[in-house]
Amino acid sequence: MTPKEKQKLTAEKQQLLKQILNYSYEVETDGGRLVIGVMREGQLPRCADLLADTFVDTKGIQAYRRYVRRNILTYLEQHHKMPPAAVVLTAVLHSTVPQQQQQQQQQTRVVQQLVGVAEVSFSESTRSAYLTLNPPRKCAYLCNMAVSNECRRKGVASHLIAAIEDMCNLAGERDVYLHLRIKDEATAGLLYTKVGFRPHKKDWPLLLLLGQEPRFLMRKQLPAARPLQGRVALPEQQQQQQEEGAAAGSVERQQEAAAVEAAASSAA
Ligand SMILES: CC(C)(COP(=O)(O)OP(=O)(O)OC[C@H]1O[C@@H](n2cnc3c(N)ncnc32)[C@H](O)[C@@H]1OP(=O)(O)O)[C@@H](O)C(=O)NCCC(=O)NCCS
Repeated sequence: MTPKEKQKLTAEKQQLLKQILNYSYEVETDGGRLVIGVMREGQLPRCADLLADTFVDTKGIQAYRRYVRRNILTYLEQHHKMPPAAVVLTAVLHSTVPQQQQQQQQQTRVVQQLVGVAEVSFSESTRSAYLTLNPPRKCAYLCNMAVSNECRRKGVASHLIAAIEDMCNLAGERDVYLHLRIKDEATAGLLYTKVGFRPHKKDWPLLLLLGQEPRFLMRKQLPAARPLQGRVALPEQQQQQQEEGAAAGSVERQQEAAAVEAAASSAA
């Protein structure tokens, strides 16, 4: 979003934008620390790869895959500038992996891997119009949810949905909708049911004859008052936390250094 576009937002929307951009959701998982936040510019290529490989069967034809990916990248570049009207969230896994042993010391390093993406739209103007089952004009609408193959069934999508519900909370939306293809009922459908979505409307199955994939319009009603599951650290709070952290950190750093030294000497 350009500074000119930002100026056009009402004060309320500007506050919401600030909260969204400073939002983060962190959780420890078996595979490492999962960090969810608004998609950053540097993440656009990886998100395009993930969505292209998840949603389009390019039948191994590289030229077709490049074409699909390019279109998705253009879409993401546009939606990256859309908050607060639409927000793309990414899930990044921070895992600790062993590194080459150096001087007999066991070293580790943290690897960051973008493993999930999901979008929530708060404005009809940011989403496609469908032939059937359009969600209400004014609602939150979840779409483009994908988790990389190797990280599935580890709770990534469930955490992304929790973060999207936080976005709805910040935006003051109580109803979240999404489309689920009927053929995905026994896979993605189980995920959405588990986190509280219920079928709201269903397509006529013979829609297939018109070349359309029949879907459910799913809906979840969120409770009125609920605390955020992630957190919003506004710049002024971040500064305060950094100052507090700097004081506490000197003790922590000493403890950390002592622990590293102890580990190194026991490995030697
Ligand atoms: C659907 C998808 C987003 C799920 O992501 P995920 O990170 O694996 O989901 P979670 O680990 O949070 O799953 C939570 C629960 O949902 C259910 N679930 C999720 N995926 C499932 C699957 N493929 N089959 C059956 N149940 C599934 C399970 O109950 C699971 O809990 P469990 O693993 O303890 O049994 C992922 O498989 C994906 O990207 N699929 C392709 C794209 C897609 O279908 N997107 C949704 C479009 S509507």
